[in-house]
Amino acid sequence: MIVWIHGFPLSSRVFSKQNVLPGFAPDLPGFGTAAAPPDQMTMDDYARHVLAAMDARKIDKAFLAGLSMGGYICFAIARIAPERMKGLILIDTRETPDTAEARKGRYETIENVKAKGVSVVVDAMLPKMLTAQAPPALVTEARQIMMSSSLSGVTAALKAMAERPDSTDTLRNIAVPALIVVGDADTITPPADAQRMAALAPKATLVTIRGAAHLSNMEQPDQFNKAVESFRGDR
Ligand code: MLT
Repeated sequence: MIVWIHGFPLSSRVFSKQNVLPGFAPDLPGFGTAAAPPDQMTMDDYARHVLAAMDARKIDKAFLAGLSMGGYICFAIARIAPERMKGLILIDTRETPDTAEARKGRYETIENVKAKGVSVVVDAMLPKMLTAQAPPALVTEARQIMMSSSLSGVTAALKAMAERPDSTDTLRNIAVPALIVVGDADTITPPADAQRMAALAPKATLVTIRGAAHLSNMEQPDQFNKAVESFRGDR
């Protein structure tokens, strides 16, 4: 069983091409079909939301797969409830916190989104989500998923990401095996981030997906699903 934790500003729909694998993908507060979050959210709050969703489905232990912000949430779960993790799948993410400049940018984006709406973030991020070679239908799908994000979901997540802690020590001390996946053309969390994480995690497997940007699971599902299957098959 794999619990898929989506990134920002996305929803569980970003994992539709992983339906062939046994899994469950909750929507995070304010995204997809989930209710709006309270004003203040932290990565620990998102982690507790995922753990509650696992409880509701009676999933005691699972492979936790986090895409980008979903990866930040996996690190929070590793701190709060490591016993719920059978293994870790870190997809196009990083363990480091925001730089001061990135944090400042998040708060500016919050103001922009409040003034002009969610499309501000979608227009800025969509070109980096998929490669220029991605089929138009895939770009449309990614855009629809992103545009379905609510204003409160987006602003709460931006703040939580800005304030997220450094997870370097968390990753260094991960007891379970970790699969680290990255698109070779990801510019949001580039392959160098994945290589650094693979060097830190005690039991890491690094897989680079060819012809993919940030949403490597969506852009190259065959390569991606094979990597996950072989990681799970080995355990
Ligand atoms: C994501 O895809 O979840 C975001 O790009 C993560 C981030 O902005 O740090």
